Amino acid sequence: MILDPACGECALLKAAEKECGSQYKYYGIDVDKEVVFRNAKGRILVCNDSILPKNVKKNTDKYWIEKLGRVQAIIANPPWSSEKIYSREQLSDAGFDLIKGQYDSYVLFVDLAYKIIADGGYFAFILPDSLFDAQNISLREFLVRNTEIKIIARLGEKIFSEVNRATTVIICKKVVPTDICKTKCFRLTTDDRKAFLNGENTLYYYYYIEGFHKVTQSRFCRNGNYLFDIDIREEEEILISKIREQGVDWKDLFLFGRGVEISKTGNVVCCPHCGMAQGYKKKQLEEGKKSCSFCERFIPVTSDTVQSVVSKKRIKNSVALYVQERNLKSVFGRGQKAPCWEHQGGQREVHGEE
Ligand SMILES: C[S@@+](CC[C@H](N)C(=O)[O-])C[C@H]1O[C@@H](n2cnc3c(N)ncnc32)[C@H](O)[C@@H]1O
Repeated sequence: MILDPACGECALLKAAEKECGSQYKYYGIDVDKEVVFRNAKGRILVCNDSILPKNVKKNTDKYWIEKLGRVQAIIANPPWSSEKIYSREQLSDAGFDLIKGQYDSYVLFVDLAYKIIADGGYFAFILPDSLFDAQNISLREFLVRNTEIKIIARLGEKIFSEVNRATTVIICKKVVPTDICKTKCFRLTTDDRKAFLNGENTLYYYYYIEGFHKVTQSRFCRNGNYLFDIDIREEEEILISKIREQGVDWKDLFLFGRGVEISKTGNVVCCPHCGMAQGYKKKQLEEGKKSCSFCERFIPVTSDTVQSVVSKKRIKNSVALYVQERNLKSVFGRGQKAPCWEHQGGQREVHGEE
């Protein structure tokens, strides 16, 4: 059986049907009853919430295994939102355990997929590139230690029309990894992405012909923070380790984190309970309140509580923030040594309160 737990218009299931034919049964789950109704013909679709199915008191994975049986493969392009529609308590009661710190909704789908899939089964997910961020260390550690990661393919932005976030496909096999198992790594270059989007070639072409390279999966355990450092080829590992030994330690210079999204004006509100500053939406300003993105408690959003934390002019007691766009982040993570360069070109100076 092949399952898509967030099946939408069933594009992935249809592609799987085309590729694998009638040797499998195809199941889909979606919370939206209209898409389920529209796409039910010829396949088994369930209208329910995959994460917290209605009126279910037991663990979510147990519920789905009882209902569907063990699944051989899962394919999904689940929701990526960071909006919290379930409480941590509800999720932990339902058996989700990959939700430490900040997490996006796709983490719940990966957690569920691993639990309901048969041993030796595969799951393939289309995820945003936040998979590579510091907030997802636990997810990466879990995948590296409990699955053979067969493919990590970074495809970049706009692969889906109207989706501006960069996209990654990850395919894992539910089996304890060996020390020698290899992960196929691939990054679609900007030029190839343009050519693909213009219909010049298929993604398969770029993957097979332009080329993936293989790295030993256990490297992701050793490189600090379980980084999926897919751009480093095996033949470059010695050079990179020399740079790591001799470079500066970025964690002495920078603090990395998800940060908070603020508008160009730098307007934020501070949570009176946990003290964390954060942006707010226009609607929240109109309503005069929001729920804290960190502690989930109530924050008043009014002209009295809003304050601006950035300015183009230098303000007394402010510090200059230097912003530089360099993609070294994908190669070096927090706590790792990285090369230092003198060149300051391309930096922007912004002033923020200390
Ligand atoms: C990006 S779409 C998936 C597209 C789909 N893979 C396809 O091939 O057409 C995400 C889908 O997830 C569904 N969804 C969101 N949260 C869900 C949940 N908790 N349980 C089940 N489906 C959910 C949405 O209704 C939406 O149809």
